[in-house]
Amino acid sequence: MMKGLRVCIDEQTLQARIVELAQEIRTTYGDEPLVLISVLKGAFVFMADLMRMLDMDVQAGFLCLSSYRGEMNRQDRIRDFELPLPELGGRHVLIVEDIFDSGASLEYTIQKMEARSPASLRVCVLLEKEGVERVANPPVDFVGFHIPNEFVVGYGLDYKERYRQLPFIAVVDDPSVLE
Ligand code: IMP
Ligand code: MG
Repeated sequence: MMKGLRVCIDEQTLQARIVELAQEIRTTYGDEPLVLISVLKGAFVFMADLMRMLDMDVQAGFLCLSSYRGEMNRQDRIRDFELPLPELGGRHVLIVEDIFDSGASLEYTIQKMEARSPASLRVCVLLEKEGVERVANPPVDFVGFHIPNEFVVGYGLDYKERYRQLPFIAVVDDPSVLE
């Protein structure tokens, strides 16, 4: 399992930061009800842990987008698999994403949510890649970790649909050993 992978954020560090993120979110919204919108598939593990740390009135909605097709080369086109969403008009909405890389999928998600006239719209990402050429630079309100521009897997993130179940984040040093 670990061949070709180098742990860069271990499980304990991840979980401790998620507790802090939940506190930041709670402080921002106070007692206002909140709708969390998670982007599948990459963000589902983060969403599950984050939402269990939020001691407040939360609802969950999901978007299913595909941009990477499970490989390391980015596709420009985003595919939207159109899941039903909760009513967002007049609600406080927080987008929960796994990673801010090129920014394309976040920008798409923000525009789609804005069209539903929420009372407020914010973004929470677990990972923000540094030194990346962005195609969009959407504002991000909550960031778990800043990471270098390397391909990572684990904690929801995949390489060709594998490694999502790892409880930590790991860098793929040599993709050939993952085949
Ligand atoms: P974007 O380039 O910011 O639009 O990111 C699109 C999606 O690509 C993210 O939501 C992730 O699911 C995926 N992605 C980006 N960087 C990585 C990575 O390092 N490992 C695995 N998936 C990634
Ligand atoms: Mg994703």
